[in-house]
Amino acid sequence: MQNILNYLKDNKARFIRELCDYVRFPSVSAQPVHRKDLEACARWLFQHCQKIGLQAELQPTAGNPIVLASTPRRNSSRKPHHLIYGHYDVQPPEPFDLWRSPPFEPRVQGNSLFGRGASDNKGQHLAHLNAVEAYLKTGSELPCDLTFVIEGEEEVGSKHLSDFLRDKRSRLRCDGIVISDTGLVSKKHPTLTYGLRGIAALELKLTGPSRDLHSGIFGGTVDNPAMVLCQLLAQLRDKKGRVAVPGFYDDVEPLTSFERKQLARLPFQERAYRKFLGVPKLLGERGFSPVEQRCARPTLEINGLTSGYQGEGSKTIIPAWASAKITMRLVPNQKPERVRELFVRRIRKICPPTVGLEFRAEHGGEPYVIAPQSRGAQAGLRALKKAFGREPVLMREGGSIPIVNAFKKILNADSLMLGLALPDDNAHSPNEKFDLEVFAKGMAMSAHLWQELAQD
Ligand code: BES
Ligand code: ZN
Repeated sequence: MQNILNYLKDNKARFIRELCDYVRFPSVSAQPVHRKDLEACARWLFQHCQKIGLQAELQPTAGNPIVLASTPRRNSSRKPHHLIYGHYDVQPPEPFDLWRSPPFEPRVQGNSLFGRGASDNKGQHLAHLNAVEAYLKTGSELPCDLTFVIEGEEEVGSKHLSDFLRDKRSRLRCDGIVISDTGLVSKKHPTLTYGLRGIAALELKLTGPSRDLHSGIFGGTVDNPAMVLCQLLAQLRDKKGRVAVPGFYDDVEPLTSFERKQLARLPFQERAYRKFLGVPKLLGERGFSPVEQRCARPTLEINGLTSGYQGEGSKTIIPAWASAKITMRLVPNQKPERVRELFVRRIRKICPPTVGLEFRAEHGGEPYVIAPQSRGAQAGLRALKKAFGREPVLMREGGSIPIVNAFKKILNADSLMLGLALPDDNAHSPNEKFDLEVFAKGMAMSAHLWQELAQD
């Protein structure tokens, strides 16, 4: 193991340069103009995998390509086989003016590498690739067979990955999946995430007059879709901070007292949290702690609102339409299709007849929880402890990785989530960064992990 860890240390500067090269691709999956950039990014990754000694393939899909890369193995291999999942697509970088340096011109400052995608998720799966490179280049025997599955559509709901998993089911048959795409409570708290929230996304559009109207000439006689949208959305949360959609909580499994005790152990300081987020006061569902609210209770959020004139100065119109992008985060045993249906039913019920209503279902994913006592989780905890030199903590996360349920259903394998993103990495925000100390610890964690998983 020491020669592997030494290799990782000796090559740190190059690993950072390679992460910069990787971050330079504007692989924004939500924006069609970046289609070619996603392809170029996938090609870079594919070539990188080949260079470090993996047997790599660039697999086209109806969307963005998937990079598949396996460690060389003998046919007779009886080693455990693990997949490592990651995504090379990134969130849109906007608003540009809030970035201190351009999002796709990576910059190292102190211990941080700034750039869109550095933390979510390029740096995190590169840590695993580097660890595997260390095994291969030092001629050390890998205790497990490994296959990397790196996709380019995670940030838009992993549309084509499930079909891909079905197609390649026999090649991808495995004992488990390792994912580093979640958070780390802090540098002092190496973290195993044993649960994720699910998600149900949709877009709601209200239509009014056939065109924008002069608000003086016509105002007072026709309804205003922007106003109606505000009135509708304002009714979706009650005074206790609960989602006011009838039936929304029906399938929610209550938290056990054991779990509430575990979550209460996680470090949390309200004042620091408030300051860090820049809000004057916290708000959440009454009866639950902030930690519970953000990882184990369901929510409904408005992610975007669009209507009327958005340019400089004023324009006196009644807008022809108004739309909202909505996501609901789900916990066991809520189902995305069901909550979407409840949402639509509620809006239909309270929407006045003065406007037209259109809905568009977007991506969805079920919540996911594993038993932290499982052998895989225990191996993960040992690897974290060895790499970080500290006792790891268990956490549930508020974010979503919808594909984990497909891994379970299609490959019948559980996902072990060992995230490397710090809370202040600014994932999805301007000035995203990846901590380079965590990068190094993540590589060491990966190096240990294959040993620990093989011991089982
Ligand atoms: N890496 C995140 C998921 C995540 C972040 C999980 C932090 C737990 C903690 C992932 O890239 C992501 O952003 N997922 C989306 C999924 C959605 C677009 C379907 C999310 O959670 O918003
Ligand atoms: Zn993300």
